[in-house]
Amino acid sequence: MTQANFADARLLVVGGAGFVGSNLVRQLLEQDPREIVIVDNLLSSDISNVPDDPRVRFVLGSITDDRILRALPEDLDFAWHLACYHGNQSSIADPFADHENNTLTSLKLFDRLKDIRSLKKVVYAAAGCAVAEKTFGTATATTEDAPVSLYHDSPYSISKLIGELYGNYFWGRYGMPLVKARFQNVFGPREILGAGRWRGTVHTVWRNVTPTFIWKALNREALPLDNGGNASRDFIFVEDMARGLIACARNGKPGEVYNLASGVETTIGDLAATINQATGNPTPVDLRPARDWDHSGKRFGSTEKSRRELGFAAEVSVREGIEKTVAWTRANRATIERCMAQHAYNMARV
Ligand SMILES: NC(=O)c1ccc[n+]([C@@H]2O[C@H](COP(=O)([O-])OP(=O)(O)OC[C@H]3O[C@@H](n4cnc5c(N)ncnc54)[C@H](O)[C@@H]3O)[C@@H](O)[C@H]2O)c1
Repeated sequence: MTQANFADARLLVVGGAGFVGSNLVRQLLEQDPREIVIVDNLLSSDISNVPDDPRVRFVLGSITDDRILRALPEDLDFAWHLACYHGNQSSIADPFADHENNTLTSLKLFDRLKDIRSLKKVVYAAAGCAVAEKTFGTATATTEDAPVSLYHDSPYSISKLIGELYGNYFWGRYGMPLVKARFQNVFGPREILGAGRWRGTVHTVWRNVTPTFIWKALNREALPLDNGGNASRDFIFVEDMARGLIACARNGKPGEVYNLASGVETTIGDLAATINQATGNPTPVDLRPARDWDHSGKRFGSTEKSRRELGFAAEVSVREGIEKTVAWTRANRATIERCMAQHAYNMARV
């Protein structure tokens, strides 16, 4: 395997103020790069996620902005594209905002990066949920070559696929060295509830299941279990995810797609039990019916190809990752409360 060197390299992380992006930037800083350029419009993130480091240049704005695109360095070595319109429910509430920040972003960024010949790799954050088979029966590991449906439950999911399609096009036509990383469910420090602007639904505050459950459990609230908590996901700790994204840049083959997954199936019921235990929450769970938009049921990702070709395997168990995330949440309570509070007016009206 080739070991690309980040020492003295010039790196771009689009969406680098976000949850995964800010963890990636921290790991990249350990590799002695010359500069990391972050482009982020803080639509679903908080400025406190951007590290105060002289090697980090933060550009506030949308990657669809032509002035920002033109000003990108011509000697970039690696780029990661992590911008999206977060998340499924927001995209259902406003498909046009999703298009602007989840589809147009990929098209305009790739169209610019195709001309930067110094790029060794462009890594795109794709979504495993856009590919996974919809089942409530026994799940099998979703492989990279699983068939992709033309029927999707959310504009978000469609946009994530379009990102792959545009990426493939710019790779095939212009040789842009694109590597696609298909994420399973990432959890961990720096996913800040309420970070960014109001996006039309309560899920602006209550982002993904893990930070929501941890926050409620720390406040001794009942954890809501849609569909009885039977659905399952593949939870991957964000530090593993950041390592996987670096492995994609180092060892990924242009044009290829790799799952970044733990390969472990965890039911939402088991996740809730782990979180209640880690936080000492004595309140029983709240069993509820299924959500109308989510038909994905049970799923987890195959880890075989990324293990074989990237040399990547997740290392942190759900239990260990939850304990670290609970500790981070306790230590960052004031920041989370500030981000949640900025939506109090809208939250009271939905
Ligand atoms: N977290 C997960 O479980 C998961 C699962 C599958 C895929 N992904 C993908 O991984 C990436 C990162 O997700 P995340 O969980 O860190 O979400 P996030 O919301 O924390 O990060 C997305 C970032 O993109 C920024 N952004 C939005 N529109 C932008 C624009 N027009 N220009 C520049 N920046 C813009 C946001 O402000 C935010 O900082 C996304 O592409 C997402 O689709 C995440």
